[in-house]
Amino acid sequence: MKNKIFTSILIFAVSAVASCRQPETKVKKEINYQAQGDSIIKATFDTLKSALTKAIQQEGLPGAVKYCNENAFPITAVWTSENITLKRVAENYRNPMNAPDSTDSVQWKIFTTAKAKGDALQPSIVEAPNVIHYYKPILLQPMCSACHGKKGVDILPAVSTIIDSLYPNDKATGFSAGDLRGMWRVSFIQR
Ligand code: HEC
Repeated sequence: MKNKIFTSILIFAVSAVASCRQPETKVKKEINYQAQGDSIIKATFDTLKSALTKAIQQEGLPGAVKYCNENAFPITAVWTSENITLKRVAENYRNPMNAPDSTDSVQWKIFTTAKAKGDALQPSIVEAPNVIHYYKPILLQPMCSACHGKKGVDILPAVSTIIDSLYPNDKATGFSAGDLRGMWRVSFIQR
C-alpha cells in the first residue's frame, strides 16, 4: 500500500517536472550587427584614446607617435575574436596596412559623397561573400590635429620629423576638425 502511494507520487512528480520543460525553440537568434559593431568600436576607441592620452602625457607628442606606431594594431585587436575582426580604414592613410580594399572603397565613396553634400554620415551594413561588414565613419576631433592636422600649423616640427621617419609615404595630414578621417570596419565572419 505504502509502495503504491509512493509510486503514484513519483509519477505525479515526474510528469509535473516534464510538463514544465519549455518546448525547444527553433528560431535562430538574429544578430544585431549595428549594436554589436557599435559596442566593439566604442570599447576600442575608448581604449585607444586613453592609451594615447597617457602616452602624450608621459612621453610627449613625438613619443606618442612612436607609441601609436607600435601599439595601434595590438590595441585595435583587443575587443575582437576569431569570428569578428576590426580594422581602421583610410584612403589618406598613414600606415599602408589601413588602405581600403575594393569593398571598402565603395563605402568610402558613399561617405565622401554624403560629406560633400553636407549630409549626416550614416553607418552602414554591407554583405559580402562569407562576411558582413559594419562601417562607421571616423571624424577628426580637435585633439587629433597634433598628428593629423596641418604641417607647420597644428603639427610641431619634432612631430613631423618622427612621422616622416616612421611613415615615409604618410598621407594622413592636412585634416581639420570635423573632416572624414577614416572609417571603422567591423567584420562578422559567416561560417
Ligand atoms: C600622437 C599622434 C597621434 C594622435 C594625437 C592621433 N593619431 Fe591617428 N595615427 C597616428 C599614427 C602614428 C597612426 C599610424 C598607426 C599605425 O601605424 O598603425 C595613426 C593612424 C590613424 C588612423 C588609421 C588610418 C591610417 O591613417 O593609418 C586613423 C583612422 C586615425 N589615426 C585617426 C585618429 C583620430 C580620429 C585621432 C583623434 C581622436 C587621432 N588619430 C589622433 C598618430 C596619432
